[in-house]
Amino acid sequence: ESADVVVLGAGPAGLVLGILLHAAGIDCALLERASRTHVQTRARAGFLAPNTVRILDRHGLSDGLHRDGTRHGTCEFRTQDGRFRLDYGALGQGGQHHVYPQQNLVADLLAHYLDLGGRIRFHTEALAVHDADGTRPYVTTREPDGRPARWTARYVAGCDGRHGAARRSLPPGAARHHHDHGVTWLGLLAEAPPSLDAVGYAIHERGFAGHMARTPDVTRYYLQWQRGTPAEAWTEQRIWDELDVRMRAADHGPLHRGRLLERGIFDLTCDVIEPLRHGSLLLAGDAASLLAPAAAKGANLAVLEAEILAGALTDALARGDTAGLDGYSDRCLAHIWRAQEFTGWMTRLLHADPDPARRGGGSSFRAALSRSRLASLRTSRTHQDWFAENYVGV
Ligand code: APR
Repeated sequence: ESADVVVLGAGPAGLVLGILLHAAGIDCALLERASRTHVQTRARAGFLAPNTVRILDRHGLSDGLHRDGTRHGTCEFRTQDGRFRLDYGALGQGGQHHVYPQQNLVADLLAHYLDLGGRIRFHTEALAVHDADGTRPYVTTREPDGRPARWTARYVAGCDGRHGAARRSLPPGAARHHHDHGVTWLGLLAEAPPSLDAVGYAIHERGFAGHMARTPDVTRYYLQWQRGTPAEAWTEQRIWDELDVRMRAADHGPLHRGRLLERGIFDLTCDVIEPLRHGSLLLAGDAASLLAPAAAKGANLAVLEAEILAGALTDALARGDTAGLDGYSDRCLAHIWRAQEFTGWMTRLLHADPDPARRGGGSSFRAALSRSRLASLRTSRTHQDWFAENYVGV
């Protein structure tokens, strides 16, 4: 089979790309390893930046998020020095987030793509991309019935995430800049309403804890976790007790407890592939760059890159103008490195000590730096404006 653009993966990056290409009259096909139910029920991120919402608005993809999402513009830091709030929506350039679970966005995008008559194959796993340095690349796949097949294209868009076929098919010259923040999180989804009307970041000598609203009935929590310890090692009771301690519930009010619907381990590592274009293979989203979840940038970058790539591919295929494709990598890498730099800053701020369990919670040089940085953020309007601009920016 063939299509002018074969898009690997139906996450936010692949779906936005597929919709924009289809709307521009470009022949494209999406190949997705998982089932439709799987992609549209998988809970992931949930904070959409203003620029992401503008992109979705521009292409008529935002009805669901305006209907069911909520606006959000405050975060609260809790430390040994008390708590303080930053109304980031009123600082910097005045941008707020929309909180809308990523699986809802993916479900909206998928419905839209199918309504347009877009081609998508579920249960179809890309195995490798071949001949990317030529003009007729092809993708080898395992089809739903298990048979091998081949998809021929003019361009292949690798939107298949961190473990996808695009990354495995990069030529030896591709650089992967990798960094390990040395921190691990236990991510939790609790069947409970939010406990505060803000994103909560708790910096504690026992480790970081975080609180992020998702919907009125489901809330995300994070606990800094000892790397290598299984997610199931603690009882629900122990997890809630630890969240209470680190979020300083005794000082600032109780957390709404509920059944834990999901637990996952996140090692805070990141990487950037450079360049993002290898002949007729182009990377976007997690396939292009992984970010630690501390600043919720991943899904926002994915949407931005998809819009840029759609424009570049449309110019190339409909008008023979390849300037957009030639500039694609540099243009996206500028955004990616900005997001990586801020995410690294945020990660160091939140983890006073990368491994408190091992050091017995003693104070360290790094903890003192984090405390000083928070004092500056609490008191300096200039620092707050910088934070706000970066926190919601992509
Ligand atoms: N063949 C086909 N599809 C594949 C393959 C493969 N070999 N490997 C992975 N996929 C599919 C996955 O099943 C998934 O649906 O590719 C899709 C990739 O989607 P995401 O992981 O959501 O990646 P992306 O679209 O880049 O969105 C990235 O969302 O939540 C955030 O952390 C996430 O920041 C990231 C952002």
